[in-house]
Amino acid sequence: DKGAYPYYMLKEIDEQAVVARNISAHYFDEDGNLQGIPCAVTDTIQEADRLYIVAAGTSYHAGLVGKRYFEQWAKIPTEVHIASEFAYDQPMLSEKPFFIFLSQSGETADSREVLDNVKKQGYPALTLANVMNSTLTREADFALPVLAGPEIAVASTKAYTAQVLVQAILAASLGNPGFDLKAELAKVAVEIQAITDEKESFKKIAEDALKDQHSAFYIGRGLDAAVALEAALKLKEISYIQTEGFAAGELKHGTISLIEEGTPVFALLTQSKTAGLLRGEVAQVAARGANTIVFASEDLAKEGDAFVLPQVNELLMPLLAVIPAQLVAYYATLARGLDVDRPRNLAKSVTVQ
Ligand code: F6R
Repeated sequence: DKGAYPYYMLKEIDEQAVVARNISAHYFDEDGNLQGIPCAVTDTIQEADRLYIVAAGTSYHAGLVGKRYFEQWAKIPTEVHIASEFAYDQPMLSEKPFFIFLSQSGETADSREVLDNVKKQGYPALTLANVMNSTLTREADFALPVLAGPEIAVASTKAYTAQVLVQAILAASLGNPGFDLKAELAKVAVEIQAITDEKESFKKIAEDALKDQHSAFYIGRGLDAAVALEAALKLKEISYIQTEGFAAGELKHGTISLIEEGTPVFALLTQSKTAGLLRGEVAQVAARGANTIVFASEDLAKEGDAFVLPQVNELLMPLLAVIPAQLVAYYATLARGLDVDRPRNLAKSVTVQ
């Protein structure tokens, strides 16, 4: 039931703070110790020499973020693969691979095909899914819940943040993040709430920048490039504005030729190591007429940025940076008079290959 909400998508965007709290309550005990991840899971992963995350669409984008946690905290090399590609073009695997399937529905046919293949090859697999007791959770060796609650809108929102959160927690069970993850995630929940309380700002940004546009861009570097892919998918799939998300350093290698007077370019700026370079790229597209809209973290924000994201640990910034993009997609779609929850040509769960 969507209650007082006009669309499920808005309700699900708003639920993300509560989802973050529910996930923490499930995976941490009162003393801040991790719970709910069986030793068999962590022991089997510790024996692996490489993780292979396999997923589709938004879940694939969540995997691109999760990769950083497994590599930086757990120190396990991690590859992220698109299920429909991996299924028919399997890359050379390491000696001891461990597979992680990410899925909201647990029913995505492309991911199921890969799980079938890797099981036949005898490799261990864990599914992180929102719908438990789904095909992917039943057929993997291990399964952990993503705990986003029912997601009805076709465009995935809370399942993405939940998948990022659960990957962070799983990675922290394998290696020390070097900070108090439970406390930082409590802060993340508070700040997600703070951003979703700013709906009017994003409505205005969406209406001003996107109402009559036929194309748009999301750029970022590092983790922001990963979020840019998800941000672009959200916008294009429901507003039908052709949107590209990509690594900002690639602009000069071709894409910058697409910039025209007024082309909206959203920049996600939350990573200190590359903030200076990204500022340069924003200036370059602005000089060619782009309408630049910068969403920057507090530590990196400057005068003129469209929105300042509250500061949390940089590796957790994707959990905040994605929220404005979800809201911008929602309000741009509303402004164009389209059905937010049911974009044309799409199904919630893709059970064909
Ligand atoms: C986009 C979206 C899709 C799904 C994809 C995978 O908003 O929802 O891209 O993420 O079809 O689905 P799951 O996660 O159910 O495997």
